[in-house]
Amino acid sequence: MEKTVKIMLSAFIMLLVHASLPSTISSADNPPDFFYVYLKWPGSQCATKEGCCLKKTPKPARDFIITGFQPYYFNGTWPENCDPASHLDVSKISHLRTRLEAHWPSLTCPGSNPEKLWSDAWKKYGTCSKPTLKNQQEYFRQALAVRKSANLLKILGDAGIRPDGSSYPRDTISDTIIGGGLHFPGLACSTDKDGNSQLDQVILCTGSDAKTFTECPGNGFGCDGDVKFPHF
Ligand SMILES: *[C@@H]1O[C@H](CO)[C@@H](O)[C@H](O)[C@H]1NC(C)=O
Repeated sequence: MEKTVKIMLSAFIMLLVHASLPSTISSADNPPDFFYVYLKWPGSQCATKEGCCLKKTPKPARDFIITGFQPYYFNGTWPENCDPASHLDVSKISHLRTRLEAHWPSLTCPGSNPEKLWSDAWKKYGTCSKPTLKNQQEYFRQALAVRKSANLLKILGDAGIRPDGSSYPRDTISDTIIGGGLHFPGLACSTDKDGNSQLDQVILCTGSDAKTFTECPGNGFGCDGDVKFPHF
């Protein structure tokens, strides 16, 4: 079999995932109009054929993790690599390190250093998040704060949607997220080892403040029918 991860997203979200298209612009003279927040269920990565490689200590939290925090414009373009001279200085975010390791870990195999993920995120998108988020500390602190305030696992759990290996109707998941005040989500699914569709990512948006959840312009349905929510 070829690649089992089949991310089912609307055409618009596909643009985001393949972030190297010509519509990309490379300087951020304008403040972002909104931010995409990508939250991934780690158990789904582990259930794919590729599997996952987790650091033993510290272990990622049993919760949705951050995989991206991306500034965006209403016209469908986004800024990237706004300051090539700026590198992540991990000593500046050392006070966030424990939380980043729990909530923005590396899952893919072979196990890689999460610092690489963080430094790539900073270069590509963090440098373009000014003036909303002024520096490295603010970019990562706000990503962590937004993930926490989404409270996604709790919102789903309160509606009986739990990572217990059961499958839930896609529309029920989506409606529950809307009911929790997070607005219409983008949902991305992958395929587990047995060929089941499973919840891979939930894509949310904040406004220009990088804080308040808003409707994602252009979010469409991903996933179909029943969606598995695997253990982690
Ligand atoms: C989209 O909006 C941004 C911010 O206002 C602007 O810098 C950019 O040139 C616009 N791009 C297009 C293709 O209109």
